[in-house]
Amino acid sequence: MCGIIAYTGRQQAAPILIEALKTLEYRGYDSAGIAVAAEKGMNTAKVAGRVEALASSVKKRDVRGTTGIGHTRWATHGGVTDRNAHPHVSTDGSMAIVHNGIVENYLELKAGLVARGYRFASDTDSEVIVHMMDGFMKDGDNLETALRKTARMIRGAAAIVALATDDPGKVVGLRLGNAGGLVCGFGDGQNLLASDLLALLPHTNRVAYLESGEVAIATRTGLSFIDLEGRAVNKQEIVVERTREAAARGKFPHFMAKEIAEQPQAATACLRQRIDFERGRIELPELKLTAGEVRKLRQVVLIGMGTSLHAAMAGAHAIEAIARIPARAENASEFRYREPVIGPETLVVAVTQSGETADTLAAMDEARRRSARQFAVTEVDGSQATRIADATLLLRAGQEIGVASTKTMTCSMVVLTLLALYLGRLRGELAPDRERAAVEQLAALPRLLSAMTELEDGYRTLAERIKSTDHLLYLGRGPLFPLALEGALKMKEIAYIHAEGYPAGEMKHGFIALISDRVPTIVLAPRNGLYEKMLSNVNEVKARGGEVIAILTEGDEGIAKIVDHALYVPDAPELIQPMLSLVPMQLLAYHVAVGLNRDPDKPRNLAKTVTVE
Ligand code: G6P
Repeated sequence: MCGIIAYTGRQQAAPILIEALKTLEYRGYDSAGIAVAAEKGMNTAKVAGRVEALASSVKKRDVRGTTGIGHTRWATHGGVTDRNAHPHVSTDGSMAIVHNGIVENYLELKAGLVARGYRFASDTDSEVIVHMMDGFMKDGDNLETALRKTARMIRGAAAIVALATDDPGKVVGLRLGNAGGLVCGFGDGQNLLASDLLALLPHTNRVAYLESGEVAIATRTGLSFIDLEGRAVNKQEIVVERTREAAARGKFPHFMAKEIAEQPQAATACLRQRIDFERGRIELPELKLTAGEVRKLRQVVLIGMGTSLHAAMAGAHAIEAIARIPARAENASEFRYREPVIGPETLVVAVTQSGETADTLAAMDEARRRSARQFAVTEVDGSQATRIADATLLLRAGQEIGVASTKTMTCSMVVLTLLALYLGRLRGELAPDRERAAVEQLAALPRLLSAMTELEDGYRTLAERIKSTDHLLYLGRGPLFPLALEGALKMKEIAYIHAEGYPAGEMKHGFIALISDRVPTIVLAPRNGLYEKMLSNVNEVKARGGEVIAILTEGDEGIAKIVDHALYVPDAPELIQPMLSLVPMQLLAYHVAVGLNRDPDKPRNLAKTVTVE
């Protein structure tokens, strides 16, 4: 994961690097550091902890110079310490690198370097890069040649930037495989490299994305590109429309609270121009799909990780039920290694809010190799997923800062429901009256979501009770089973309470052994075709002395009578129940985390975008 920034220009680099690192901090916040090349050598500052701590440390020192690199770390190899923080600097202080990814053969490379007399100052895999590059430079290579030659010796996906006092005024960057990528920003009298477009937007909207095996060479006056053989690569400058959105919390105590509350607007933005009220139809022209192509599809495989995988599971359910195409969701990291049976008649839908998750991108590469047609469902236009996919469905949720996804899951589920309906019509499985009814149901979603995000008090009280528990069970069935998984994931991620999501029917085959008055069960049981089945599950838990918290439809008079606590969702058709049932999962975890004084926006050990395998 990790965030990378590099700057060369006329201005002092340190403040620019620190501002960029604040934007990139969602990629990892174990440590942060910068290195700035000055006439007398390399000025380096690095600290374990957040970018704020780095900023205070830099303020106390004179980190001057107009060419520099910076990094926020999510630790893979080596503990969270100052010395393992990036940048890594060569022994004589003449060059520095930052790295995102894993050098898979670092042990072998390190042994060779140690034998040649190099001393290592950290426990990271990344440090081999700086010593290897230093070796090439001492043999007379310039910075980009040293980087190219090093790139040919390391295994694993990587994004690297480097600078050297012996090749002043220059930063170089490399992308190998899918380790989060590098975006190059063309400025006036300054040029930048970053792992994320957002970090460049305060300086320029003219960019180019590095492809795997490409090296960028940035000086104050220009940006040029070569491949690993040193041949010039022509890259087109892209002008991006996006402006930097003000990531302000406003009246909310945390970004997560703000993003939960933003779900009605996010859903509206996601639906806009995709539903045609007059004709009662769904329109997804960005997919450029014909009815003939949809009829030929033999299966739909949805891939994703974390919360996006749960959205994909709900989406698979909708696609199979509505469009009548066999559909399944798969964990992208498993999919990529198991020789999946897919081909030109498979539609692969990659769900990834960032568009940069390493395992999801690798699974997409695998699907491309097997000639499947591919769509990306993502928030970030221009992200790597959009560049691999044949077409993209943008979420339009607005930037999500909280590490644990909330509003982007709602939008992923909305987009996948639209896709299910659209495929259904094109395949001839969805009659016009059913489509019209679905359009109306979806149109009501933002209003129904608003009613839910305002109902927070009951959650606070319940959170007080739950926060002292060590284990929680979440139960759901059918389209709500992925929501049980998501509820448990949120509770683990931000409240650090062990929780498991189970298909309600499976509970009797294992978890029931753990049911007691110390293990509360959260049951997703709004009124739908499976309500009575859920009632049986509730009774089974109660019969064993378990405490039950149920998510029920407003006005419920059945399950409500036998459970210990009830949380309510509005009365709504089954099509939109998954989106509505998500909100209690989010609010409960949020209030428990806050009650336990945990930071829900930056949970320990996690990162928003996981760009390593
Ligand atoms: C990380 C984040 C999750 C997210 C997952 C997948 O684990 O903490 O919130 O769901 O990555 O990210 P993606 O960007 O692919 O949706």
